[in-house]
Amino acid sequence: MLKDKKIVLGITGSIAAHKIFDLIKLFKEAGACIYPVMTQKATYFLTPLSVEIACGNKVLIDMFDSPLQHIELAKKADLFLIVPATANFINKYAIGIADDLLTTAALAYRGPFIIAPAMNWRMYESPQVQKSIEYLRSIGVIFVGPEKGSLACGEEGKGRLAESNKIFEMAINALTEKDLKDERILITAGPTRQYLDPIRFITNKSSGKMGYALAKMASRRGAQVKLISGPVNINPPLVDELIKVETTEEMLKAVMDNLNSASILIMASAPLDFEPVETFNRKLPKNSIKSIQLKLCPDILKEISKIPSKTFKVGFSAEWGLNIDRAKKKFKEKDLKMIVLNDISVEQSKMGSDYNQVVMIYKKEGKFIEEKTPLLHKEEIANYILSKIKELIIEG
Ligand SMILES: Cc1cc2nc3c(=O)[nH]c(=O)nc-3n(C[C@H](O)[C@H](O)[C@H](O)COP(=O)(O)O)c2cc1C
Repeated sequence: MLKDKKIVLGITGSIAAHKIFDLIKLFKEAGACIYPVMTQKATYFLTPLSVEIACGNKVLIDMFDSPLQHIELAKKADLFLIVPATANFINKYAIGIADDLLTTAALAYRGPFIIAPAMNWRMYESPQVQKSIEYLRSIGVIFVGPEKGSLACGEEGKGRLAESNKIFEMAINALTEKDLKDERILITAGPTRQYLDPIRFITNKSSGKMGYALAKMASRRGAQVKLISGPVNINPPLVDELIKVETTEEMLKAVMDNLNSASILIMASAPLDFEPVETFNRKLPKNSIKSIQLKLCPDILKEISKIPSKTFKVGFSAEWGLNIDRAKKKFKEKDLKMIVLNDISVEQSKMGSDYNQVVMIYKKEGKFIEEKTPLLHKEEIANYILSKIKELIIEG
């Protein structure tokens, strides 16, 4: 993801400095080159040697060790990241003080800049720090955190360093080309539930991973994303709005309510097809039920195909076997611009897997085109699908 991206990682004198190793690991796994710079005060909290070993690059501290390294760092960096950032650093950077290697290189640098503050809540809430943050935000600096919680000094409040994966996600966001910035994408994900009584329901094995991957990648690529999610056990990605639903009817209503404000709809959820004919508003004694009769739930894509809309609609078709003809039939019936077929009988791409292999089916000059992707992580499949949607929209 970050292959060969050059990241200058500034570490300042905060008690949270020891948390940097988790973040360094994430960057290394993603293929980034990390150039660590520590302030003199940061060396009270961490040994430069341990940072150097974790990053695989020499830690730079003193501006006068090698002349012009502050300019070299500023010129080569794709991203500048300060984790953790002290109140001292934030205030100095806001008014352009350059009295050590980190602040001097930061001042010379032009490009995406992320700051993850960590400090006692009294320092964070001080008018000086708040004014500096407000100013830095106004010139495009991105802040991640701090979070509320228990602080190293024993107090509670806003000042904890943001979680490493949140900072990592922000860094990837900042380095991703915003080719979908003009799109408003509505994505559905996960299963739905249909209740028999207040505590019993039927559902399916959908994990929501494909829809969440689409939402994550679309956000990274600059789209405004609304994610409508059935009940899942995965952390939500950073999106503009997350709408949680349970039943197929709730999902249908959420899609209807948001359809016309979306330029693209991607139905990556697996809404339940069946619901009990008879439902009960209190828990049934176990002997009172002999069998459950089912009826069909509303088909969301079919329902919305009845409404005139300019939204570019993409459906998913989970099939037991590569049933291309069935997918094409759905494409026509549901007034879609693309249908994504996945064969859930295959072990590597079964429901719940992190991987998928799909066939994207769409029309060009009146003829169906079938395009099969390799077996890839769902995040990469999401990028394939988003790029294809973009291409089809551009071609009109
Ligand atoms: C034990 C200890 C912990 C500290 N933790 C923080 C902190 O979390 N955040 C902060 O802004 N300052 C903290 N400070 C104060 C900074 O180290 C101090 O302001 C220092 O000048 C920062 O220098 P730097 O920004 O050049 O790294 C701490 C100081 C001590 C002694």
